[in-house]
Amino acid sequence: MSTSPLIIIAIDGGAASGKSSTSRLLAERFNLLHVDTGSFYRQITFELLRRGVAYSDLPAVKAALAHVQLTTRLNGRSAQMLIDGQPAGDEIRSQQVNEHVSHYAAIPEVRSALLAYQRGQVNVAKQYHFRGLVMEGRDIGSVIFPQADFRFFLHADPIERAKRRAAEGRQDSIAERDRLDTTRKNAPLVVPAGATDIDSTFLTLEQVVEKLATLITAKLP
Ligand code: DC
Repeated sequence: MSTSPLIIIAIDGGAASGKSSTSRLLAERFNLLHVDTGSFYRQITFELLRRGVAYSDLPAVKAALAHVQLTTRLNGRSAQMLIDGQPAGDEIRSQQVNEHVSHYAAIPEVRSALLAYQRGQVNVAKQYHFRGLVMEGRDIGSVIFPQADFRFFLHADPIERAKRRAAEGRQDSIAERDRLDTTRKNAPLVVPAGATDIDSTFLTLEQVVEKLATLITAKLP
């Protein structure tokens, strides 16, 4: 059995900055567990909306979170979160969730409910014999894994990002989500100190992946 330490790659960036596609391709290339933390915030948002718990009602948010069980199962190479045994459906990408997710994600109790769960994905990667994990989100390089082996931040021009969402046939509240995510008090979206900042506005997905893969390969033992 290999005893080499797991590789941890953190990828942060704003809405529709290309994090998910890039992370998925890196996961395939380097045999990593792919962890999309945005999908976790979306899933919690959907669950709280489904239960009628408003983000402005902090006691109700806390009470609801106190009893949820978060577990993981593998979906291909991706970590799929289960809330009380239930996986997320397509509805986590709906416009209703887009409009609410940043409000719920700004609540410290929501973030702390996910903190240990996200760090625990290292054990999931070990359990399934991955070489490491690539985790994408807003605070991965700054809060979740500040000691990650690689920390990247993906930028892209807002007009280009809106075009990418439209090409996927999806509506999104990109500018508003970025505004809320960068201005919240708790774990805001920032370029982590020392992270490699990549502007993907004029790059194809393949070019972004090549750039990151070259940097990763150069530093791997
Ligand atoms: O990655 P995404 O666009 O699917 O993320 C949805 C929202 O979840 C995002 O607007 C803010 C929140 N989020 C967060 O606060 N922290 C993370 N690490 C990931 C996502």
